[in-house]
Amino acid sequence: MNDTADKLTFTRPDDWHLHLRDGNAMRSVLPDTVRRFARAIIMPNLKPPIVTTEQAAAYRARILSALPAELAGRFEPLMTLYLTDTTSPEEITRARASGIVQGIKLYPAGATTHSDAGVTDIARCEATLEKMEELDMPLLVHGEVVDPAVDVFDREKIFIDRVLTPLLQRFPGLRVVFEHITTREAVEFVQTAPNRIAATITAHHLMLNRNALFTGGLQPHHYCLPVLKREMHRQALLEAATSGHSRFFLGTDSAPHPVRDKESACGCAGIYSAHAAIEFYAEVFEQAGRLDRLEAFTSFHGPDFYGLPRNTDRISLIRESWQIPEQVELGEEKLIPLRAGEHARWKLA
Ligand code: NCD
Ligand code: ZN
Repeated sequence: MNDTADKLTFTRPDDWHLHLRDGNAMRSVLPDTVRRFARAIIMPNLKPPIVTTEQAAAYRARILSALPAELAGRFEPLMTLYLTDTTSPEEITRARASGIVQGIKLYPAGATTHSDAGVTDIARCEATLEKMEELDMPLLVHGEVVDPAVDVFDREKIFIDRVLTPLLQRFPGLRVVFEHITTREAVEFVQTAPNRIAATITAHHLMLNRNALFTGGLQPHHYCLPVLKREMHRQALLEAATSGHSRFFLGTDSAPHPVRDKESACGCAGIYSAHAAIEFYAEVFEQAGRLDRLEAFTSFHGPDFYGLPRNTDRISLIRESWQIPEQVELGEEKLIPLRAGEHARWKLA
């Protein structure tokens, strides 16, 4: 990191959790990510989901061909497969051999947007998880139980006890990323877990607590899953992200949805942050007095955990206030980006 008070220059970051969608929607949002990040772990929750290596390869090709000419060759999509009750061990072997698949995503069925094809009982995936363990293919976990009897705000905490802890015991060599953690319990779990367990943290969970869902009325654009939590949990995430601990790293979970799906009688979950993602993280680290630890969190810990090389080029942020647009194109639709119409303090140079 090479800083003056008004300019930060550091190794180009990667986004270890991103929803790009497909088609024209993808074409609209992709440049926001590519201008900032060199690589991104691409979530497989399309409709229908990406469940085979062949589908992942085709999706990857669509992403690369959607890059505008001036950004061509500047982005590496790191693909994932969507784990289902019927994902076979052979599919894991194919995924590993392909060299393009970096993880297998576990969505408990019904946990979040486009997760109906997810796993109904992890016990059904034994042979597949054994193969992942053998081939060192990471499991990326949406860590929430779907039991309707469990309070929405407790679903992550309960997931740790009911699913994650037994899973790690059953597969002592499995590498796991606990995605978009939101609670103090998750932070403590990762801190005390073995080295094969890491977690991603979003910008919005570092910036907002659950009051943001209700300030001045119901705020559908602050609704995501896992849902925002109490301030004490935000504080715990902030401490973890800025602690320098190598098993916490950046994952935006930027999840674009058309305005009309968010502002509806049944508003869907997902916050779009790709338009100012690295700027938001810089702001959060600055407020915590920890800009010196920004680069490791955004650019080192992720590739180190995934066993990939760190990026060699650099980006710069300048201290300059700019107004975030009220709306962003999403194919033929529009979306409302995080902090729409308000200001960001850092600007991409
Ligand atoms: C994601 C989406 O929209 O695909 N939504 C979200 O609230 N994060 C799904 C997910 O990652 O849970
Ligand atoms: Zn996600």
